[in-house]
Amino acid sequence: MDFFVTIRKRQSVRRFSDMPVAREDVLIMLEAATMAPSATNEQPWHFIVIQDRELKASMRDVVKTLLEAGMQETTDQPRRKRLEGMRTYSLHFADAPVAIAVLARPWQGRRSSPYFDATSYNLAQQSVAMAVAQFLLAATALGYSSCFASAPAEFARQELEALIGAKPPWFLMGIISLGKAEKQPQRRVPRKSIEEVCTFIG
Ligand SMILES: Cc1cc2nc3c(=O)[nH]c(=O)nc-3n(C[C@H](O)[C@H](O)[C@H](O)COP(=O)(O)O)c2cc1C
Repeated sequence: MDFFVTIRKRQSVRRFSDMPVAREDVLIMLEAATMAPSATNEQPWHFIVIQDRELKASMRDVVKTLLEAGMQETTDQPRRKRLEGMRTYSLHFADAPVAIAVLARPWQGRRSSPYFDATSYNLAQQSVAMAVAQFLLAATALGYSSCFASAPAEFARQELEALIGAKPPWFLMGIISLGKAEKQPQRRVPRKSIEEVCTFIG
């Protein structure tokens, strides 16, 4: 598929058919991910490819339980509304044929930097985000659909890390849902115009 067609075609999909994803295709997507640039080429990523239904169900259950606990704890309406909406946006990995837990590890470069903590976490996330973008594009080029979700990590990071065996310095950044779309999205989520997001100087 032409590169720019692939870029236009990629859209987040959150409902999948039962059709499996070929392991060799996952390997091609992972290779595309690992070709991404990373700060000082540390390649601070690790991908845990999960097809095991029971594990996916356990992961969904911990996220759901924490979302529900959060709803019980707050009477703040906007917060409750967000948590309720988050069911749609946090749990789709469990029904995708493949869920890929995306782990990052803080940047280890300039240890003497006064900004070590924030810098090392920021650089890790910037690097791993680039790898995720390449993964998603490769999935599209191979005819699959996907969605990266940070919400499961936001709501249940420690619990999910325990379930998948992620240990420090690795931390969970998010989960990619991957499979064949149940149906293609009708319309694309709108984008700001180039004029709105770009300034030319000179
Ligand atoms: C950093 C990041 C976090 C995201 N987190 C979630 C999420 O938690 N749940 C979800 O369903 N989608 C999530 N998305 C997908 C976005 O909602 C989606 O990319 C955006 O609405 C644009 O739509 P598109 O991907 O179809 O172009 C995330 C995307 C990014 C880049």
